[in-house]
Amino acid sequence: MTTNFSIDLDGIRKRARSHIEAGAVTDGYQGDRDTIIKLLNDSLATELVCVLRYRQHHFMSASLGGIAGYAVTGELLQHSQEELAHADRLAERITQLGGVPDFSPQTLIARSHADYAISDSLRGMLVEDLVAERIAIDTYTAIIRFVADKDPTTRRLFEEILAQEEDHADELSDFLKRLPIS
Ligand SMILES: [Fe+2]
Ligand SMILES: [Fe+2]
Repeated sequence: MTTNFSIDLDGIRKRARSHIEAGAVTDGYQGDRDTIIKLLNDSLATELVCVLRYRQHHFMSASLGGIAGYAVTGELLQHSQEELAHADRLAERITQLGGVPDFSPQTLIARSHADYAISDSLRGMLVEDLVAERIAIDTYTAIIRFVADKDPTTRRLFEEILAQEEDHADELSDFLKRLPIS
């Protein structure tokens, strides 16, 4: 059985021309734009909090964790850089949708899904990082389900970020297993 795929190309061409000011957002966009921008902004806040938490853990891990701290410090810095790259991609998508990316430090923690948690032990830091990754994995999965096929570009962005959060969680749980009992 074949399914016919037909599109109203003339209509699409006309609509594309009539709302030039909307940029990448066309009349065919089926997402609830305000809600999706809010979800993107909350996720942006989460990523920025993760950047800061990983940064703090990077600087403190070597001094608190002895030799094991030295082993993970570079990895924590790399996670921080990757969370910053996620933040940039979310902010870019927000502007594509005609929204304003919210970088305000005043409301960052309230909007973030994950906490800025510090610890005085290496194990404590890694546990907090793993918890934050697990929160990100669950919230991004829920967002992907919500966005579904209404906004494929936003969904793909969250899917790509989600895959990297899963890698982060995996690495952290490996570190935790290898950590000497103290
Ligand atoms: Fe991230
Ligand atoms: Fe992550």
